[in-house]
Amino acid sequence: MTQARVRLRISLAARRVVDEQRLGFVATVGPGAVPNLSPKGTLSVWDDRHLIFADLDSPGTVRNLQHHPRFEVNVVDPILRKGWRFRGTGRVYRRGRLFEAGVRFFEGRKLSDAPRRVRSIVLLTVDYVAPLISPAYAAGRTEEELRRHWWKYFRELERRRHQPT
Ligand SMILES: Cc1cc2nc3c(=O)[nH]c(=O)nc-3n(C[C@H](O)[C@H](O)[C@H](O)COP(=O)(O)O)c2cc1C
Repeated sequence: MTQARVRLRISLAARRVVDEQRLGFVATVGPGAVPNLSPKGTLSVWDDRHLIFADLDSPGTVRNLQHHPRFEVNVVDPILRKGWRFRGTGRVYRRGRLFEAGVRFFEGRKLSDAPRRVRSIVLLTVDYVAPLISPAYAAGRTEEELRRHWWKYFRELERRRHQPT
């Protein structure tokens, strides 16, 4: 088994997946070491050491980060079956310059009614970045094969959903 190389900065390749997917799963730790995982569609790259998301309705994640700042985020391309994992420490901003800059950032990304909806801005300082790769690649599948397979799968799923019952 190969050990994934640990990176400290968010590379352009990792940034591209985060920008494209517009969805990351944020794991935090709650009281009693209870794990908490929830999706964030606003997850974005702030700079090469920070991710950011808008807290629109994330009371659990925010509460956890305030008590125990460690997090892990996974962002995966469901077609290519590749992605990135990020670990580090998170901080919650409810007011001040970072909060205002964050709200402007999400307004720029067309988050509707951002000033009213954003409860807080969560800045995630990244200290570990590693790729996530489906074992299908180790089994010999190519990116092109997987792309074709999963597009077909999702197209079929979509077709079935729109079929009258
Ligand atoms: C696809 C998707 C994207 C979401 N994006 C966000 C988001 O960017 N920010 C947010 O606060 N909540 C977002 N949510 C809602 C939270 O994930 C949801 O309210 C969750 O229950 C919060 O859990 P938590 O309090 O443990 O963080 C999203 C939910 C889904 C299904």
